[in-house]
Amino acid sequence: MFAQRTKNLNSSFIRDILAVTQQPHIISFAGGLPDPQLFPVHELQQAAQLMHHIQGNALYQYSETAGLLPLRAYVAQSLTVADSQPDDIIITTGSQQGLDLIVRCLIDPGQKVAAEAPTYLGALQVLRANQAELVTIPSDDQGPDLNALEEIVKQEPIRFFYTVTDFQHTLMPHRVIHFGSFSKVIAPALRLGWINGPREVIKVVEKLKQAADLHSSGYDQHLVLHYLQSGALLPHLDTICTAYSRRLEAMATALTAYMPDQIQFTKPEGGMFIWATLTSNESTMTLFQSAIEQGVAFVPGEAFYAFSESHNSMRLNFSNSHVDLINEGVKRLASLVNGERLEGRSAIG
Ligand SMILES: Cc1ncc(COP(=O)(O)O)c(C=O)c1O
Repeated sequence: MFAQRTKNLNSSFIRDILAVTQQPHIISFAGGLPDPQLFPVHELQQAAQLMHHIQGNALYQYSETAGLLPLRAYVAQSLTVADSQPDDIIITTGSQQGLDLIVRCLIDPGQKVAAEAPTYLGALQVLRANQAELVTIPSDDQGPDLNALEEIVKQEPIRFFYTVTDFQHTLMPHRVIHFGSFSKVIAPALRLGWINGPREVIKVVEKLKQAADLHSSGYDQHLVLHYLQSGALLPHLDTICTAYSRRLEAMATALTAYMPDQIQFTKPEGGMFIWATLTSNESTMTLFQSAIEQGVAFVPGEAFYAFSESHNSMRLNFSNSHVDLINEGVKRLASLVNGERLEGRSAIG
């Protein structure tokens, strides 16, 4: 009854476990959520007032598929890595939609795409849903294995390489399509992101987007535009970077204090997660079940590999828990990994 493309769909493991981990007694390192207490609500309210005053009823009208011109101009000028013009940008409904549009624009079913292992789970979902054939490139704290990538590109007809560049940095050559998002720097509920890429690609993506949803919410685009024009973004970034780096510090300190020999990790320079690997070969999928019983959650690393290549890694989110909870959550994890209780020890003074 269903189309072929639905055969490859599997529900996101993260979405499934988020339901479990959202119980109030659980300290959750599972989601990739920014802290809602840090959303710039007051500044967004001010921007909303101003946009109603300036736009009036027009605020609620249909608008152009590519996105509001002044918003594209802002992104082109201030938020892109290379010299860009508004026509090199299309506003998307979150960068997740950007991924889907680009894959549909460039990939026919069965064509090959290379991606890092581990990689962003949402990209794996998009690639599977669009029947791309995945080829994985091993990646570590130095980024993807470029020799492996070169070899694969020589041997196989790879259409493109999907990489998450920030905080697992690779150099950006030209011929790059870059996805951006306001989700983590302002608020994910706005569902606004963008694609910055070669103009001939953007033009075709625009047609696909028109068929998909006509345009991303004009209301939200005006809101973000007014917010950006108010100059509130940079001070807000300072606020969230300071808060998140404290939490990162707290998690790194607790991991080192409670599991000095049992876990390996590299402290990231940004983002919202620590990627940790057990030095034993224990399965983090099994550990996850007992962790839930102990009231702490994480995402087993396996979820981020197309072919379940890793069994003993885990992703730990630090952005959405306060430092005392981070300490307590890591302590609970350590008690499982160490097979002992650690009451009375504290990594955070
Ligand atoms: C690498 C990456 N791409 C895309 C997304 C989706 O973000 P958005 O909210 O912009 O759709 C995420 C969300 O965490 C992400 O980590």
